[in-house]
Amino acid sequence: MRKKTFVEDIQQFSKNLQIGFVKKLLVFDMLDSTNSTAKDFARADAEEGTIIIARTQCKGRGRFDRMWQSPEGGVYLSIILRPQIPVQSVSLLSFVAALSVAKTIEAHGVYATIKWPNDVRVKKKKIAGILLESEIKGDHVNYVIVGIGINLNIDIEELPSDIRSRSTSLSFELGAPLEYQNFLQTLLVQFDNVYTRLNQHQDVRLIGEWKTLSDTLGKFVRVQTPTEVLQGTAVDVNQSGFLLLKTNQGEIKKIVSGDCLYFDELDHT
Ligand code: BTN
Repeated sequence: MRKKTFVEDIQQFSKNLQIGFVKKLLVFDMLDSTNSTAKDFARADAEEGTIIIARTQCKGRGRFDRMWQSPEGGVYLSIILRPQIPVQSVSLLSFVAALSVAKTIEAHGVYATIKWPNDVRVKKKKIAGILLESEIKGDHVNYVIVGIGINLNIDIEELPSDIRSRSTSLSFELGAPLEYQNFLQTLLVQFDNVYTRLNQHQDVRLIGEWKTLSDTLGKFVRVQTPTEVLQGTAVDVNQSGFLLLKTNQGEIKKIVSGDCLYFDELDHT
């Protein structure tokens, strides 16, 4: 008998899926970017809980216009959400995503940490990334696309040399490939649990949980924001998920978005 394709397999899997927020799984073999496709669907009024998933991406996008390498074996999906939350809480969705990914990885036997705002790492190497894209209309959140990329069954040696030394995969950490559908099921269940917390306005609890898995707070860091580079000690995150950085001058800077580098991990060569 012919082996089922990825698309057939996941379509079959989605038929038996009963997870609160999940409404529809749209499965593709290859897309430019699941986030771009999700945005098209969101603009065409796709409902909350529509998920776009692809076996591979040829133009996977990362934060700050970077590329996201998307070979076969990784998890590439984008979730369309229409959360009833204040505009200033939208960034907390990246905490929701990072927390659910870290918990999923942990459920599969590997301890993962989160670097503010949403890099998921294992032994200081990046294993997953999250790209949040939203449309705000006045004081209303129209949609949020939560794009998640996870190095599941990926041979790190096949990644380009510039990111290879900073990346890892779950199959590498465990020494064996994982079952994709089982992993996906755990991820969606975890996302549902954590997203429910946000919808029930349990922001403080959500942030508290994020903090227990984050390795950022207390560290001396350098943050590249869209407009400047800042240095200081990461002292806390506020109720919107913004990073509070204490500079050497004792000033507290509130950082909405940026790329965080740890001084103790910087390559000074
Ligand atoms: C980052 O760490 O820079 C974010 C990476 C996000 C990658 C995922 S893969 C699925 C979704 N589609 C994309 O094009 N990007 C996100």
